[in-house]
Amino acid sequence: TIYLGAFAHCISLANLEICARGAIGVDEQGLIQFVEKEISSPSDVTTKHPSWASAQIVSVDDGFFFPGFIDTHTHAPQHPNTGLFGKTTLLDWLETYTFPLEASFEDTRKAGRIYGNFVARTLSHGTTTCAYYATRHVEATNLLTEICLERGQRALVGRVCMDRLSPEYYRDADIESAIRDSKACIDYARKVDEKGEIVRPVVTPRFAPSCTAPCLAELGKLAREEGAFVQTHISENTGECELVKEWFPESESYTHVYDEAALLTERTILAHAIHLSKEERRLIKERGSKISHCPASNTALTSGCCPVRELLDEGITVGLGTDVSGGVSPSILEEARHAIWTSRFVAMSAPSAPVATLNNAAKLSTAEALYLATRGGAAVVGLEEKIGGFDVGKEFDAQMIRLGSVPEAGDYEGTFGDEGAGGPVDIFGFESPEEKVEKWVYSGDDRNCAAVWVRGRLVHKTARYKV
Ligand code: GUN
Ligand code: FE
Repeated sequence: TIYLGAFAHCISLANLEICARGAIGVDEQGLIQFVEKEISSPSDVTTKHPSWASAQIVSVDDGFFFPGFIDTHTHAPQHPNTGLFGKTTLLDWLETYTFPLEASFEDTRKAGRIYGNFVARTLSHGTTTCAYYATRHVEATNLLTEICLERGQRALVGRVCMDRLSPEYYRDADIESAIRDSKACIDYARKVDEKGEIVRPVVTPRFAPSCTAPCLAELGKLAREEGAFVQTHISENTGECELVKEWFPESESYTHVYDEAALLTERTILAHAIHLSKEERRLIKERGSKISHCPASNTALTSGCCPVRELLDEGITVGLGTDVSGGVSPSILEEARHAIWTSRFVAMSAPSAPVATLNNAAKLSTAEALYLATRGGAAVVGLEEKIGGFDVGKEFDAQMIRLGSVPEAGDYEGTFGDEGAGGPVDIFGFESPEEKVEKWVYSGDDRNCAAVWVRGRLVHKTARYKV
């Protein structure tokens, strides 16, 4: 298949490459075989690549192709709680909203309905790879694994472990059963996707307050034995940090609690990381662990503003996470916007004073936020060689973004909402390709996401997708 038309992707943290007349050749295995950045006409492509003369053409003329988004942290079972948080903060939010809902996933049929809906929803927002927390239930967790595999969404799926903090009715009875059940989910994922090409298991201690030190240590051992990824939360809320200090008095810091359990590996995804000390961040960097930045959730639960610029400057690998239902949207596009707004709040919170003292260095650019949403996220989930951008040899995970041309005056009736116009981003015809991308980032949504591919397989399409 040849994907013909404009495309954009991040080539480095600060560099967004936009090609107005591009062509991407993808073979039957979903591998990118060529990338042409400046073609003069469609026939130009087959002149350059004669063996592709009979290839299928998928073209976009009112938008562009963009790499699939990577969500490095979200909770699939919390989908029905989206928007429900009131004025709570993390610990009372967990107790009031989260634990009761997650506990109900004992009911596997209910789990199937919600998981099916959530995976479809994240795909429709262009998320081609997603790191999911499930619940503590083996059957429901395995169902999520199956759904991702069937729908063709790359995923990390984790059975959540917790042997304290949560109410008795939603807790691992003991460490042995926590490890046995986690192992059962790992084995299942490896049985249904032997090579882990689409779905991989991830060892998931909920967070330090939910696990005793011996439980964390056993999970660290399990991750090492299985060569598996680890995901957990860290330093999200100051009340949580106080609890960790109190419950792990021997440990030097929150980060040390995980390190002492051998849970800080190159395959570890730490969500939030707001209130870390410089020394903790140094340790995370040294261990090669990655950070999932979840700004929408951090604002909703008033957890704090993560200083992402500092993390990036220190050389830590960062991606974005929607953290549903701490966050209220399954959209990584929206999360990128939140990352940009949060960086501006950090910039404005420098000593309140004249504009001259704004901490401009703290601000993320549009390009940087898109990098976190794609290549940064790919590195967080260990797939930087395979996905995140349109490079020869990478796998084609992509979304077709279509923008809406503005109808002539008097022409609105019958045009507005048509598939030709439709979508929230209005294009007047005079925008540069760079401006079109900016408009999409700041005012686009899932209505602009016409189709989605994973490894060249079409995994989502709308009425706006035409071949
Ligand atoms: N910390 C422990 N569990 C959770 C959770 O479900 N969501 C968020 N945002 N933080 C957590
Ligand atoms: Fe979370």
